[in-house]
Amino acid sequence: MCGIVGCIGQENSVSFLLEGLEKLEYRGYDSAGIAVHGGSGIKIYKASGKLENLKTLLNGNSGKYRLNAGIGHIRWATHGVPNETNAHPHSSSENTVSIVHNGIIENYKELKKELAEKGFNFSSQTDTEVIAHLIEDSLKPGQAPGDAVRNALKKVDGAYALGAIFKQDPQTLYAARKSAPLILGLGENRNFIASDVPAILEHTKRVIYLEDNEIAEIKSSSYKITDINGDILEKKVETLPWEPVSVSKMGYKHFMLKEIHEQPDVIRQTLFDKLKNSDEPLNLREVKLTKKQLEDLDRVQVIACGTSLHAALVGKYLIEEFTGIPVDVEASSEYIYKRTIVSKNSITIGVSQSGETADTLTAIKQAKDKNSHVLVVTNRPDSTMAREADSLLPVNAGFEVSVAATKSFSAQLMAFYLLAIYLAEVKKSLPGTTIEEYKKELIQLPQKIEMILSNKEKIHDCAVKFHNTRNFIYIARGINFPTALEGALKLKEISYINATGYPAGELKHGPIAMLDETIPVLSILVPGKVYEKVLSNSEESKARNANMIAVTSEEDEHLEQIFDFIIKIPHTDEIFSPILTTIPLQLLAYYIAEFLGKDIDQPRNLAKSVTVE
Ligand code: M6R
Repeated sequence: MCGIVGCIGQENSVSFLLEGLEKLEYRGYDSAGIAVHGGSGIKIYKASGKLENLKTLLNGNSGKYRLNAGIGHIRWATHGVPNETNAHPHSSSENTVSIVHNGIIENYKELKKELAEKGFNFSSQTDTEVIAHLIEDSLKPGQAPGDAVRNALKKVDGAYALGAIFKQDPQTLYAARKSAPLILGLGENRNFIASDVPAILEHTKRVIYLEDNEIAEIKSSSYKITDINGDILEKKVETLPWEPVSVSKMGYKHFMLKEIHEQPDVIRQTLFDKLKNSDEPLNLREVKLTKKQLEDLDRVQVIACGTSLHAALVGKYLIEEFTGIPVDVEASSEYIYKRTIVSKNSITIGVSQSGETADTLTAIKQAKDKNSHVLVVTNRPDSTMAREADSLLPVNAGFEVSVAATKSFSAQLMAFYLLAIYLAEVKKSLPGTTIEEYKKELIQLPQKIEMILSNKEKIHDCAVKFHNTRNFIYIARGINFPTALEGALKLKEISYINATGYPAGELKHGPIAMLDETIPVLSILVPGKVYEKVLSNSEESKARNANMIAVTSEEDEHLEQIFDFIIKIPHTDEIFSPILTTIPLQLLAYYIAEFLGKDIDQPRNLAKSVTVE
């Protein structure tokens, strides 16, 4: 949700800022801007729309700004329409300071009123502009800019990651953080700030993670980090474990397609060092609960948003099935406005690809405040959520750039398989032979995904036939119901087609009224407990003239009579099938969006990391 970059001491600051923003485009893409110190003053360039427009505006200008401080921003609008005026950076009335901001200033209306009464003029509809004026208002004669930033931020309620440059101080870049991610990157005679690692990874691997209420004053060869009162803090310098290549498309047309194809390796990676052989116990060393705590565990609460919420729903099914422990799953945005109920032997699991989703972060903090052990399942061990967690279940999916989550979903599912089996091992709730068979199957799954990925024709044909459809229904039962939700979400997100997932049994309680020849129904039906039932619900849909699509591993001739398209997946036990059934649904959404010419990696109105509640 908005991306920030900044640099000081960089040879060509404009190129750095533009390249950094390109790497952060997944965080927002409705307008972009940069501010660079030209020696005599601050120059601002902004453009509405995609970053491309800003690049065009700056064409030929990139060599002009060397070594002085610069900041850049890519926006996902919260206050004010996405136009050039509302694009960041924003400046104070006298242009003494320019800032970029990610987050929401909750008391901006009160602050705006006070500042307007003092004579400050506002040119945008944003909450951000108040911070620029507030800093200028705090910058008394003879006062250091750092003190002005600290004094201004003391008056601000809400969330911010902030980058600022001052007219009077071209050699310093200022940064601050509260409830929105911001890192400081340390280079050789040049330093950087960024909302996320990809923006600086090509330049440095040495970083400092700023914490809430910390303010950094950064020069090209030194930095000072203080708390809000100006007391100097000693911060740990960490080394990033990633390579820049992990954020490239590697020849694929879109990041989404690349990420779909990475799934076999992502799963191998997630299993690596946790499950080497089916006859060895699982090694979940990151789960810091004692054997006794695990044995006594009698309730699990899972909180997440979007795709991570769907993974959590599969996790509920697995933990309940393997251990008999009741599991509640709730959208973080609902959880945080209810009474937080934590019982003695319970744990709270937060699931998040980014580890920065504001609602989930607030939810896990609430659970922690009630003394719950918080286990975080995340793809980003460097994230704020990972830092808040008591235990971590890393999912090793690597950077996911496409806004539509794909490989992180598969990796989260694997994390839940591992956790559920681990709990079953400790609690002895499943026979040893069953556990061993399950482990064997887990090891086989990457190969089975590869088989789906090398047989995509049917999925492609299906996309050709249905890409002009306006409504889609996905049905399934049991452990594949969350897969139906996830398949429908993927289609909605990237093609803007209205797609809804239903438990197949719910169809006749209302949604069946919509069915006719214009609405395709996609049924997920794998052999197991609910196969026959989903088949009957599919027949009921066929009887209403719906176009029928099956995702199945069953060799049932009867299917030909019901379904217009049959997308085959390799056989696996029903309990593991979501890992396989989800792949054709991702590809179907991708191909449909591709036929419709949509902006697949950056769908309209969305952002990868939702850092506002
Ligand atoms: O980073 P998180 O997993 O916490 O993000 C949660 C959702 O915002 C995310 O899954 C969103 O729904 C994706 N766009 C799904 O493709």
